[in-house]
Amino acid sequence: MSQHDETPKAVEERDRAFLVPTYDRRDFHPREGKGARLYDAEGREYWDLLGGIAVNVLGYRHPRLVKVLREASTSLFHVSNLFYHPAQAEIAERLVRGSGLSRVFLCNSGTEANEAAIKFARLATGGRTEAVALHQSFHGRTLGALSLTGNEPYRAPFAPLMPGVTFVGPNDAAALEAAVTGKTAAVFLEPVMGEGGIIQLSDDYLRAARRIADAKGALLVFDEIQCGLGRLGHLFAFQKSGVVPDMVTLAKGLGGGLPLGAVVTGPAIEGAVKPGQHGTTFGGNPVACRLGLAVLDEIESPKLLAKVRATGEWFGAKARALQARVPAIVDVRGAGMMWGLELDRPAGPVACELLAAGFVVGTARERVVRLLPPYIVPKKALDGFLVALERVLGAAHEKAA
Ligand SMILES: Cc1ncc(COP(=O)(O)O)c(C=O)c1O
Repeated sequence: MSQHDETPKAVEERDRAFLVPTYDRRDFHPREGKGARLYDAEGREYWDLLGGIAVNVLGYRHPRLVKVLREASTSLFHVSNLFYHPAQAEIAERLVRGSGLSRVFLCNSGTEANEAAIKFARLATGGRTEAVALHQSFHGRTLGALSLTGNEPYRAPFAPLMPGVTFVGPNDAAALEAAVTGKTAAVFLEPVMGEGGIIQLSDDYLRAARRIADAKGALLVFDEIQCGLGRLGHLFAFQKSGVVPDMVTLAKGLGGGLPLGAVVTGPAIEGAVKPGQHGTTFGGNPVACRLGLAVLDEIESPKLLAKVRATGEWFGAKARALQARVPAIVDVRGAGMMWGLELDRPAGPVACELLAAGFVVGTARERVVRLLPPYIVPKKALDGFLVALERVLGAAHEKAA
């Protein structure tokens, strides 16, 4: 028996014995996928409404991605960044044309994209070192990105972090205005805060952030790692509000499931970054870039973005109708393929029951059920989820009564 065929129990035992225990894993063993469906080691079928935490935007075994990967398998798997590879400039051009910004730095992950944005902001503001970010934000786990992450339990064990970061509450323009000073290099915002529980920053607030950053000579950086790349029905989340940032960070779905991150930089960064000031061995891997180009081809087809918007509106209306009937749902927030259903109870056990009912969902903060489905998810999967959620919440209610 190959290790690949091991039973779930054997996999868990080896995992526990040999991996650093950084994850509190759920008892779930996905092994195959097709479209928006996942199949576990026992062949049980699930609707995947989490999409690998916003990575699998086209679902599983998408024919275009499979074809690209097959073709790439006979090509170079890695090319050093000391040399040229056409796929890097092609994907950079696509992101520049899609955003209206100027250039792209390619890396491997979200946290790395934010690290690069921190360094670029320092270079572009003449050595300013401070930053402003939001309470409940999430920007990554490396020390720079963690310094911008407004979540104390993630930060506390690693103090001291990067100094000079001030946190303010989401959607509070007056607090932002007070926090940004002549020493601020950049304001970091997620247009929709994912880990924070699907909190949308209002268009007014984003406009105020642009105005405040401009007035103080600071840069405005949008972390669109979770909410960008079509998830809100626009290629870039900022295109929904019309507020143009100086930099956008991307990762998650960009590499079609392989690691690929990016910082898209605007005119304020032009000329600020010189050769040798930043770099990565793997960033812009040619296979990941080729997959990324295929992902962008699919997302940029107007049909898919229109489907994301329409399905999002349909789902929002249905979820709010359920909220009106089920008191355990205290709020429904989101758009497109990014939703949070805030409950009156911890979301973790509810997510486990939904898994047992055949729906893979995420959570955020303590009480939010978080959905980040592949964009190709059919309505019947979302419909089925709402029925299952009502049953799970109703059953819990009956148990308590
Ligand atoms: C908004 C946001 N920024 C940054 C990150 C970090 O990305 P990565 O895990 O690829 O480092 C995440 C990951 O969930 C995220 O949601």
